[in-house]
Amino acid sequence: MSIEIPEGLTELLQSFTVEVLRNQPRDLLEFALQYFTQLKDRETKEASFGNDQNSAPRIGKAVNFIDEAMQIDSENGEEDDEDDGDFLAPVINRYIRRASVCAEAFNPDEDDEDKEPWITHPKTDEQRQRLQEACRDILLFKNLDAEEISQVLDAMFEKVCTDGEHIIDQDDDGDNFYVIQSGTFNIFVKVENAEKLVGCYDNRGSFGELALMYNTPRAATIVATSPGALWCLDRLTFRRIIVKNNAKKRKLYEAFMETLPLLTSLELSERMKVVDVISTRIYSDTQQIIAQGDLADCFYIVESGQVRITMKRSRTKKEQEEEEEVEIASCSRGQYFGELALVTNKPRAASAYAVGNVKCLVMDVKAFERLLGPCMDIMKRNIQNYEEQLVALFGCSTDIQQSA
Ligand code: CMP
Ligand code: CMP
Repeated sequence: MSIEIPEGLTELLQSFTVEVLRNQPRDLLEFALQYFTQLKDRETKEASFGNDQNSAPRIGKAVNFIDEAMQIDSENGEEDDEDDGDFLAPVINRYIRRASVCAEAFNPDEDDEDKEPWITHPKTDEQRQRLQEACRDILLFKNLDAEEISQVLDAMFEKVCTDGEHIIDQDDDGDNFYVIQSGTFNIFVKVENAEKLVGCYDNRGSFGELALMYNTPRAATIVATSPGALWCLDRLTFRRIIVKNNAKKRKLYEAFMETLPLLTSLELSERMKVVDVISTRIYSDTQQIIAQGDLADCFYIVESGQVRITMKRSRTKKEQEEEEEVEIASCSRGQYFGELALVTNKPRAASAYAVGNVKCLVMDVKAFERLLGPCMDIMKRNIQNYEEQLVALFGCSTDIQQSA
């Protein structure tokens, strides 16, 4: 069922909300009455002068409310003197200018995007299979339903790249999101005007989501360091599906995020960014979530159920085969695991198993590094406790903290 939103309703409510936020009235109902009466008076006056409201923006402002910065559209003039006193009933501008891609509001419910036809790039069976394979572990796609994933895959197109090619330049506007099919790529970030190599991608993963999610300039430069191939998802489809999905996720997880002790050092907006990058994974009883000794690429927060952490003391896989696993810890709702290998850059120090049905929130290593820096103190404190835990259990020290 689709409910039609009357033309102008969104702008009307946005402008009203902005005035409320600016004026902070004590009596909201009284303020609303005044506001809409004044708006109606103005419309009546203008009609009697033969003015068309939509054709000539005059006094007042069209406000792009959902923009995080609450920017006032400069097309309608700078804030004028009259602003200091009583509010001015705004002229509703249905054609709010998109100053640049980066200044555009974060508005996943924007109607305009839905009016555009869906983008489809035909693919051979072989291409589609490769695409599905490349997208299988992309966390941003994990929470999509079958229809959404098929719309995403239909819209993606292949791009072959050469060694040394700049796929993304920092500060540019965002056009596509990229999933790596093959090839290696360096990540550079400008630090005091010098390009600093901060990481790389090796034949897997994805990049280019930040500018599309938050309407910000590109946050890094990505350069191919070998010939390779990428799957590209255009900005419009990305926003229609991924950003809309994130808005739903934010509503769903906002309250849970507030309860996580690990995230207390993050601002609300940072916690919401965490929600944007997490996906959920479900495990059944006894299923292995992490295997000791494996290379690590994810971090986990338990949403529901219980996770058992076990360890074998021996260093080599061969010796471990003979050895019993010892339970060293357990994690329940709101607790996290899988951070140690990401912090120390070492293989997994222990294994993790589901006890009953378990649901985890999962974050990839790049997002972990980018977003959880402020939580590092809490994590490091807990890592120190691991050491004591192991001494108590095994009677001697280990080297799990090295380079933490
Ligand atoms: P975006 O800002 O759209 O374009 C550059 C991309 O580089 C960015 O999205 C991320 O996907 C990716 N990236 C990887 N590491 C970093 C980093 N340390 N800082 C910023 N962006 C990064
Ligand atoms: P990681 O090494 O990435 O994967 C296994 C996880 O088990 C580890 O991160 C920790 O999050 C968790 N863990 C819990 N207790 C301990 C402990 N005493 N020693 C090491 N890891 C532990």
